[in-house]
Amino acid sequence: MPRNRLQRSNFLCILIGIVIFVIIFVVAGSLALYWCSEEEVEEPDVPPSNLVELPDCQCPPFKLMDQDDIRKNTRGQYLRNLQTWNPIIEHNTEYPCWFNIECQAVPGVSSYFTILFRSNGNPIYINRVINNQSTFVPQPREIGDFKCAQHTDGSYQWHFHNYPMTDVGFACQADVDSCHCPHIETEDPKGVGVQRRFREAPDQCYLYTAYCDTDDYYDVYVPFLYSKHTVIYNGPDKHNTFYDDLICIKEDSNVFNWYYSNKKLEDVDIKCGTIAEEFRIERVCSCEPFTVISKIEKLAKYKHSRVWRYIGQELGENSWKEDGKFNITCDEGFTGVVFSDNYDPIVLSGNYITCAYNPLSNDLHMWVVDSIRVINPAGGCFKKL
Ligand SMILES: *[C@@H]1O[C@H](CO)[C@@H](O)[C@H](O)[C@H]1NC(C)=O
Ligand SMILES: *[C@@H]1O[C@H](CO)[C@@H](O)[C@H](O)[C@H]1NC(C)=O
Repeated sequence: MPRNRLQRSNFLCILIGIVIFVIIFVVAGSLALYWCSEEEVEEPDVPPSNLVELPDCQCPPFKLMDQDDIRKNTRGQYLRNLQTWNPIIEHNTEYPCWFNIECQAVPGVSSYFTILFRSNGNPIYINRVINNQSTFVPQPREIGDFKCAQHTDGSYQWHFHNYPMTDVGFACQADVDSCHCPHIETEDPKGVGVQRRFREAPDQCYLYTAYCDTDDYYDVYVPFLYSKHTVIYNGPDKHNTFYDDLICIKEDSNVFNWYYSNKKLEDVDIKCGTIAEEFRIERVCSCEPFTVISKIEKLAKYKHSRVWRYIGQELGENSWKEDGKFNITCDEGFTGVVFSDNYDPIVLSGNYITCAYNPLSNDLHMWVVDSIRVINPAGGCFKKL
């Protein structure tokens, strides 16, 4: 009997051992599985909420820029003090890289811009709303000449006018300070006339339509927006000139300044003048003239510090002419360089230069060079370094 009992307890012992073993195995196994599966869940990158990924599109996600991102954006930081909020980006699964963009009003703000940022260029204004109403076509907006394409290094990048942009981001930014900005002078012996657009908008002073009725026998007068170091010409319509890129910005010092696109202005006035006087040529098309640098002296008007290194350099033959869309072609050993009032010198990539529609209005045009919007550009062929 005792032997039997011993056998039974032996058997029980083994059974309990097996049960405990199985329990430990199951618990440890499932713990391990749980741990592993948790690792797995964490692995696919869940995009941070400030990235907008277009599924099935090979181009990088867009960043929704906040004020801190804008402060760190080299070419866009002049916009850092504007109230900023996120746009809505809509896409269509049928066309993976297609999207449109909309900025909706936020409390207390009825006038604002939709702005594109990137790390390799200045911001582009996409849409302007005044008093809750888009000044051009209604939102949501698409962007002309904007596409996903393969870069020369094989990667997919967003392209604007056929040139790759890096780290593309979007933001909505308030435009409510214009009545704090310096007075825009419109006293003019040549008789510029101005009319306030959007009279009902309480946050918009100096948003004018300008016109000139003072033709004399020889000359046609058109409105120009003058600043200390630049003159803005906005197309040939002398009875209906307006400046949608003009924005009032508060600096860190609490001083308010006018900017035209990314160009800071000083002592702003609107006056009538002639194309011949301003540009020393007979006539221009939709954009201001694109000057050929035939003599190094022509660089003197460009104030950017990086212009200086071109002043002592050898200038090549310019075998190109400005057109709506053109290339700067240079002799062997020389390369095209573009200078402007709002950007440092751009060494050309071989992409074309174009006088394109301004996204803010089909009545406005802008020069685009390697995706950069340039004001009063001039180009020339310089000896390759
Ligand atoms: C603009 O729209 C917002 C939100 O719909 C509203 O609160 C605001 O009063 C509107 N502003 C004007 C000037 O109509
Ligand atoms: C400019 O040059 C490029 C590259 O050589 C060429 O593909 C393009 O057609 C040219 N564009 C114009 C407008 O001449």
